[in-house]
Amino acid sequence: MSLQFYHYLHLIGLILVFIGFGGLFSSEGAKKAMMWHGIGLVISIVSGFGMLAKLGIMGTMPVWAWIKIGLWLVLGFLPVLAKRRVIAAPLVVLIAAIAGAGLAYLGYFKPAF
Ligand code: HEM
Ligand code: HEM
Repeated sequence: MSLQFYHYLHLIGLILVFIGFGGLFSSEGAKKAMMWHGIGLVISIVSGFGMLAKLGIMGTMPVWAWIKIGLWLVLGFLPVLAKRRVIAAPLVVLIAAIAGAGLAYLGYFKPAF
C-alpha cells in the first residue's frame, strides 16, 4: 500500500472515530457509536504505523509519534468516562476534539522535541 493510500485510510479512521464521539450525545445510539469509535481507532492506528513505515521512521520513532499513540489511547478510553457518567458527555466530546486537534497538529507539523 502506498503512503498516499495510508493517508486516505488515516482520514477515514478519524472520521469514524469522531462519528463515534458524536454518537455519545444520545444514549440510544451509544452502542452503535462505540462500534464506529472502535473501527475508526483500529483503522487510525494501522494506517498510522503504515505511514511511519513508509516514511522510514518506524525504527527510530520520533517523540511526536509516541505522543500520538498516547493520545490514541486517550481517545480509546474516553468513552468510559461518558458511559459511566464520570464526566458529562458534552465535556468528553470536547476533550476528544482537543485530543484530535493535537493528533492532527503532531501529524502535520511533526514538532522536534
Ligand atoms: C473493530 C474494532 C472495535 C469494535 C467493532 C468495537 C465495538 C464496540 C462496541 C459495540 C461497544 C459497546 C459495547 C456495549 O455498550 O455493550 C464497545 C465499547 C467500548 N470500546 Fe470498542 N470496539 C472496537 C475497538 C476498540 C478499541 C481499539 C478501543 C480502545 C482503544 C475500544 C474501546 C472501547 C471502550 C472504552 C468501550 C466502552 C466500554 C464501557 O465502558 O462500556 N474499542 N466497543
Ligand atoms: C484517532 C487518532 C488519530 C488521528 C485523529 C490522527 C490524525 C492525523 C492527521 C490529521 C494527520 C495529518 C494527515 C495528513 O498529513 O494528511 C496525521 C498524520 C500522521 N499520523 Fe495520525 N492520527 C491519529 C493516530 C495516529 C497514530 C496512532 C499514529 C501512529 C501509530 C499516527 C501516525 C501519523 C503519521 C506518521 C502521520 C504523518 C503522515 C505524513 O506526514 O505523511 N496517527 N494524523
